[in-house]
Amino acid sequence: MKAGILTASDKGSKGDREDVSGARVREILEKSGFKIVAYQIIPDERELIKKKLIEWSDGLCLPLIVTTGGTGLSDRDITPEATGEVLEREIPGFGEAMRAAGMQHTPYAILSRGKAGTRGKSLIINLPGNPKAVEENLNTVLPVIDHAIRKILGDREDCASLREKV
Ligand code: MTE
Repeated sequence: MKAGILTASDKGSKGDREDVSGARVREILEKSGFKIVAYQIIPDERELIKKKLIEWSDGLCLPLIVTTGGTGLSDRDITPEATGEVLEREIPGFGEAMRAAGMQHTPYAILSRGKAGTRGKSLIINLPGNPKAVEENLNTVLPVIDHAIRKILGDREDCASLREKV
């Protein structure tokens, strides 16, 4: 299954900061069998983020697009807004689950405003920018990603029969 990783970071895009979070996302997804076919670091700019998400969903038809960074409360954090503008259907449960699970590790988990949802045949998920947060958030939703993607791609198999596999 193909996936793309989009890191939103002003410093990262200028080469002032190593993209440890993007690397962490890659590591986790590859271990789960995903092939990373698109990866980019871009500044925290609403239009750039939207453009890339549209390109990777409408153009490359990537089943999974994971963003990292820009979900917090700094004035430059704009990833959830940009994502919200390109999503066709939001899946609030992803954010709810990630924040709830994150609270087991740190109360600051509620500060991430990350969204998730679908655009065309792509599942798009926002993760926070901290590498530890990436790991905690992604591992929370990883068990349902495969099923979610199959449903998005049009699998009509009964959900109940799959529940035991998760
Ligand atoms: N979620 C988990 N599970 N673990 C964390 O350490 N850090 C939080 C939050 N979510 C964190 C987390 C912090 S401190 C912030 S500011 C927000 O994610 C937003 O991060 P971002 O702006 O880098 O996306």
